[in-house]
Amino acid sequence: MLDIQKIRADFPILSQKVNGKPLVYFDNGATSQKPQVVIDAISKYYQEINANIHRGVHTLSQLATDAYEISRGKIQNHLNAKHLHEVLFTSGTTFGVNLVANGFTAILKPGDEVLVSALEHHSNIVPWQMLCERTGATLKVIPMNDEGELIMSEYDKLLSDKTKIVTVNHISNALGTVNPIKYIIDKAHTVGAAVLIDGAQAVPHLKPNVQELDCDFYVFSGHKICGPTGIGILFGKEEWLNKLPPYQGGGEMIKEVSFEKTTYAELPHKFEAGTPNIAGGIVLGTAIDYMNEVGFDNIQQQELELLEYGTKRLLEIEGLRIFGTAKEKTSVISFNIEGIHPYDIGTIIDKLGIAVRTGHHCAQPIMTYFNIPGTIRASFSFYNTKEEIDSLVEALKKAQMMLS
Ligand SMILES: Cc1ncc(COP(=O)(O)O)c(C=O)c1O
Repeated sequence: MLDIQKIRADFPILSQKVNGKPLVYFDNGATSQKPQVVIDAISKYYQEINANIHRGVHTLSQLATDAYEISRGKIQNHLNAKHLHEVLFTSGTTFGVNLVANGFTAILKPGDEVLVSALEHHSNIVPWQMLCERTGATLKVIPMNDEGELIMSEYDKLLSDKTKIVTVNHISNALGTVNPIKYIIDKAHTVGAAVLIDGAQAVPHLKPNVQELDCDFYVFSGHKICGPTGIGILFGKEEWLNKLPPYQGGGEMIKEVSFEKTTYAELPHKFEAGTPNIAGGIVLGTAIDYMNEVGFDNIQQQELELLEYGTKRLLEIEGLRIFGTAKEKTSVISFNIEGIHPYDIGTIIDKLGIAVRTGHHCAQPIMTYFNIPGTIRASFSFYNTKEEIDSLVEALKKAQMMLS
């Protein structure tokens, strides 16, 4: 069992007041808050070892390089990747998806198919649409049902030898659905398609095992897992990373450069052009250490309790409808209150110190499916409490009274 008050004390921002009220932070799906160890590690890097990596023989450069590469190793362990060089630092999920989609330009030809799901974030839709426009390939969509679950029998029918890559999220940011990715991956492999998993919403809740999953690519952002913004990870199987061309050209990603021909560096540097987010890379390792110390079993238990309690309490509100009622769900509740625009509710409860997200959550096709402009999304983290959910319910009741 987690000592929530002790955990909360790790996060200085949580004891703040916003608009004169104690902050209730339920926008964890957008970004997580940062524990003091992470905040300190950022300062420590700049105070003690700031230097460019992989470039200098001087001591600071070596210290920074070591710290950066040690962090890569922590992430390799965390994901259970087979090789260290399968772990690429990126600026985030969006960058990772774009890198892979760009790499498939030379692989796809007209008539080939790319499969995305109805539950995707725009960052796992648009890069594939752009790829299809460049190559003449066709984008196909795995449909969802009213619970917000992907329909696997339809997926089975969509797969064929034309399918070259299947790209789905592990967990939906808008509805909280946990997708059956093991099934999706294994099935895609039977037709020889590669699989990219967008793990942006999964890594805050669970520890993905990329070898067990057997996915070809797994991408996520550091900022959703208690780390800083501007850093992320792309795991790619060695054979795929060797096959794909570099995404960006520049320093660090080369073996030799002449005006006639440039040869590229070995993995992972082939995909890491230019000076990276060094502090971000190092501190992502600190954030992952912190999450592992809290323990993913504890995190899941606390979040499941919050999901169950939150669902029960929110449904007490008259006219409240929850979108996303999948059997496998994480601690995200997307909802609307009859007759009231989500934005109006969000604005009023913000005045009461409560931070939720309102809108389409970068998943417009889901909103189109439900024929709504958007939802209010309360996304809970392990540092949230049932008392905070009570405050949300009270605030919603007040907003409902004011607006109806
Ligand atoms: C499922 C999912 N995919 C991709 C992204 C994009 O992440 P980023 O903006 O950090 O690149 C998000 C962000 O909310 C997300 O929830």
